[in-house]
Amino acid sequence: MSTQPYDFESELYPPPAVLLGIVQRGLGARAKRLPSWLFYDRRGSQLFESICEQPEYYLTRCEMALLQAHAGEIADTLGPDVRLVEYGSGNAAKTRLLLERLHAPVCWVPVELSATALEASVRQMSALFPQLPVQPLRADFTRPLRLPIPPRALRRTVLYFPGSTIGNFEAREAVELLRKMRGEMGENGGVLVGVDLKKDPALIEAAYNDRAGVTAAFTLNLLARLNRELGSDFDLDAFGHRARYNPMAGRVETALVSTRAQYVHVGRQPYHFAEDEAMQVEYSCKYSPADFAALAARAGLEVARLWTDPEGMFSVQYLVRGGAQAR
Ligand code: AVJ
Repeated sequence: MSTQPYDFESELYPPPAVLLGIVQRGLGARAKRLPSWLFYDRRGSQLFESICEQPEYYLTRCEMALLQAHAGEIADTLGPDVRLVEYGSGNAAKTRLLLERLHAPVCWVPVELSATALEASVRQMSALFPQLPVQPLRADFTRPLRLPIPPRALRRTVLYFPGSTIGNFEAREAVELLRKMRGEMGENGGVLVGVDLKKDPALIEAAYNDRAGVTAAFTLNLLARLNRELGSDFDLDAFGHRARYNPMAGRVETALVSTRAQYVHVGRQPYHFAEDEAMQVEYSCKYSPADFAALAARAGLEVARLWTDPEGMFSVQYLVRGGAQAR
């Protein structure tokens, strides 16, 4: 087994001092907001997995169905001897469908902030593919990555970014991230990305307001995390989950709404919330195929292939360098 040993130290990421700075900046802003990647502590990652099983949350099911239907064609498009670098690692089921079909993959490199999530997915994937070299990278994929040296020569690096997580970034940040990916994949590489599509707003809104309340628990868990890691005093009964589709912006806007006027203390600093004040915690952008092609073009990428379902619910897209470069 060629899997590299990896030290899964379970230190907090980000470290409390860094987290405190992020949160104080977000709460000090005129329009309060916190970055959505803070959702994914251990409990948050569990709750997200449970969201994926809710009947209203169509994204995961649609993406899985697309992979089930087209993994063979995707593998043929990517070709042999691919190094598959995955942004985020919480997708063992999707990655499995892909790796089963890839022609002689060189290695799989999951990139993930959470040590526990990384550890779990490495364990699962190594059990499923004992021959496949796994090179886990505990890192923030929005920053430049130092990819480990591959175990053998490769034909191309493909950056796999499933789940429509690209939708969590505002357009300008998404372009920046795609441009960074374009550099990391090299001349001959590609990006395989899951992109949620624009559709009936009622269907979109329902996906972020499941009846069982799992998404609400996921959103509120952010405050529980801050209380635990920073010693803040958010009253979880005095905030509510709100997710609305903004059709003009083409995105779901998720906020924690203060149910009353109150003060919250974070690192000794008091922050005032007015009654009904909203703190923005997540955007989930939705794209038409044309919207996303335009976004990719701004990053110097073009859509080489697009797989979608007959209803046009979700898409898996393969991006390569734009222009006339040799493949
Ligand atoms: C994992 C970022 C794709 O935005 O749909 C699910 C996260 N938030 N329900 C999304 C999420 C609320 C999810 N992504």
